[in-house]
Amino acid sequence: MIANSEFDMSLSNIIFSSCLQAVDWEEASLLFERAPLGKQKRDPEKLQRAFEASYAVIVVRDSGKLVGMGRALCDGEYQAAIYDMAVLPEYQGKGIGKNIIGRLCEKLPVENIILYSVPGREGFYIKCGFRKMRTAMARLNPFMSGQDSGYL
Ligand SMILES: CC(C)(COP(=O)(O)OP(=O)(O)OC[C@H]1O[C@@H](n2cnc3c(N)ncnc32)[C@H](O)[C@@H]1OP(=O)(O)O)[C@@H](O)C(=O)NCCC(=O)NCCS
Repeated sequence: MIANSEFDMSLSNIIFSSCLQAVDWEEASLLFERAPLGKQKRDPEKLQRAFEASYAVIVVRDSGKLVGMGRALCDGEYQAAIYDMAVLPEYQGKGIGKNIIGRLCEKLPVENIILYSVPGREGFYIKCGFRKMRTAMARLNPFMSGQDSGYL
């Protein structure tokens, strides 16, 4: 759990939730576009299916407006992976992302949690307690495999 002292208390109307029922997936798609996370617009229906199929999700709202999201996959026993961390630009740098990570990790009943960072965001995950792996390997889509993508 992130301590209150680490959270920008001016964000008094911020609510963190694990409930996807009220999520407007068009609004969620716009959140990913504005964050930005990825170059292609997320299809709202695919986004909904991905979040609903996840083991743990966190949705962040400010007076009802969707301002942040994150999700994790998990086998329930050994391994977990965090994906799709996004916070609206005007809400970034206020502790919301770190809070999402903290809450996701609390929901994961395993000790091994992996993720890969968008190039340039590694420092955020280091601040959240993650360390670089020496042996990480991946098979990635053509865009992420490209020499200029920064992933490989
Ligand atoms: C990455 C992201 C989720 C971080 O969320 P955030 O709410 O802005 O981050 P926080 O305010 O919780 O930052 C937590 C800490 O990480 C640091 N940090 C944040 N982004 C950073 C970055 N890009 N590089 C280095 N440090 C960073 C903050 O300074 C803060 O440090 P502190 O604890 O010493 O104060 C958010 O910036 C975002 O949505 N970016 C666009 C989408 C994206 O790239 N998502 C990540 C995909 S891997």
